[in-house]
Amino acid sequence: MKALILYSSRDGQTHAIASYIANELKEKCSCDVVDLAHAERVDLKSYDQVMIGASIRYGHFNPVLDKFVKKHAETLNRMPSAFFGVNLTARKPEKRTPQTNAYVRKFLLASPWEPAMCGVFAGALRYPRYRWFDKVMIQLIMRMTGGETDTRKEVEYTDWQQVAKFAEDFGQISYKKSH
Ligand SMILES: Cc1cc2nc3c(=O)[nH]c(=O)nc-3n(C[C@H](O)[C@H](O)[C@H](O)COP(=O)(O)O)c2cc1C
Repeated sequence: MKALILYSSRDGQTHAIASYIANELKEKCSCDVVDLAHAERVDLKSYDQVMIGASIRYGHFNPVLDKFVKKHAETLNRMPSAFFGVNLTARKPEKRTPQTNAYVRKFLLASPWEPAMCGVFAGALRYPRYRWFDKVMIQLIMRMTGGETDTRKEVEYTDWQQVAKFAEDFGQISYKKSH
């Protein structure tokens, strides 16, 4: 069993989640974890299943996500596949499902790809690593939405148990399809 996990990550959290999922699945299958920005030469057909994860920045997923999905929709729709979105809105549990997270809901509505599984994970807030402008903007958003505003702090909101469960379920869809 061979799985591909593609990720689009700006500050590393989505990459960390993708690697965590690959590690969770290591007994079940061999997993390649590949940056979506360098996925042009990836041969989807050489994998049994595929997962794509991407983070939100200023309201949008990286355009490489749409580009890849449009180009490969037909192949993706024929494979057991999963999508997950990462953002800070999802730090609130009630905004952590594909139906309640506006970014993920919007993506799925517009996407020609219909992943069999879909998840939303809370990302990380790492003020000290942001450029001045980003720091000010994120602090403003956090102030407006009742989040952390202390710019000396780094907070990881990701629920790793939720990620582990998602990995387990992904392992099951492939198992069902191939036996
Ligand atoms: C400059 C910047 C803009 C962001 N914009 C949003 C946003 O519009 N909505 C949101 O929910 N989260 C937003 N986030 C939070 C990120 O989605 C979160 O930090 C996530 O963990 C980033 O994942 P990555 O490290 O894989 O890129 C933003 C973060 C940064 C640094």
